[in-house]
Amino acid sequence: MSGRVTKAVIPAAGMGTRFLPATKATPKEMLPVVDKPAIQYVVEEAVRAGLDDILMVTGRNKSPLVDHFDRHYELEDKLEGDEGKRDLLDRVREPTELATIHYVRQKDPRGLGHAVLCAAQHVGEEPFAVLLGDDLIDERDPLLAQMIDVRQRHGGCVIALMQVPRDQIALYGCAAVEPIDETDVLRVTGMVEKPKPEDAPSDYAMIGRYVLSPAIFDVLRDTPPGRGGEVQLTDAIQALTDRPGDGGPVHGVVFRGRRYDTGDKLDYLRSIVQLAADRADLGPAFREWLTEYAKTRLPEGDPIEPLQP
Ligand code: G1P
Repeated sequence: MSGRVTKAVIPAAGMGTRFLPATKATPKEMLPVVDKPAIQYVVEEAVRAGLDDILMVTGRNKSPLVDHFDRHYELEDKLEGDEGKRDLLDRVREPTELATIHYVRQKDPRGLGHAVLCAAQHVGEEPFAVLLGDDLIDERDPLLAQMIDVRQRHGGCVIALMQVPRDQIALYGCAAVEPIDETDVLRVTGMVEKPKPEDAPSDYAMIGRYVLSPAIFDVLRDTPPGRGGEVQLTDAIQALTDRPGDGGPVHGVVFRGRRYDTGDKLDYLRSIVQLAADRADLGPAFREWLTEYAKTRLPEGDPIEPLQP
């Protein structure tokens, strides 16, 4: 069905206010998850799904992002001269060799929809993927490749959905859905950005992966600011739900795997613990320590003097 997906867009212009002061001088996308910045996981995910043309939508103070995916000759020279540091050299070079990365600046912070619109010229008339940097999808649970497959078969747009407890739906875009004759693929009939639990059409939350038809750009140009005074991507995709053949239909792929929200402090900590515990190199020693810590430090009712935030 119309056009192969080859490009990924990664919006990375946000201010990261939830992590201040850590994000005062460091982009939130550069916060480490174990020993790689969060953004590298996202780029690796796009590449695994076959997308090695990546556009990052950046903003002010984001130059560390650009540097991270560029060569660092002095460092590489130094490591190259030391036999014992070959492994480190490979790790330093890895991000520079992953993909072709392009950059465009979102000059005004006018919301996610506006950030995606900044990609219009680069993307052109092709379907493309959008990956939000705050959502990390575990590489053992491939989601994007499945979404691209749904797009190839049905055309239109594909969003990623995850069932969440009702009281958490206000943190997400939420989709009204109806079943189709496929397991874990739903037809999306409506979408609303961050509804109150009582107004939510379902418990299906949109997580930050999208495969979009280029028709979204025309819609975004005419999408007025919505929730929070920002141009919402959700509102633009909603407009395509009833336009099959012209940007629509919209399908949802239900994700049942491991997802980490690194934009949330508690989930950021969870993501580091889970990913470190599963790592072949760090895992055994970390798990041993963690088990002991949980036993001795956190028995029920143990009064722990809280540190001030
Ligand atoms: C954005 C989207 C929202 C989506 C969420 C997923 O919101 O606007 O629809 O559910 O990402 O992480 P944000 O969390 O950036 O406010």
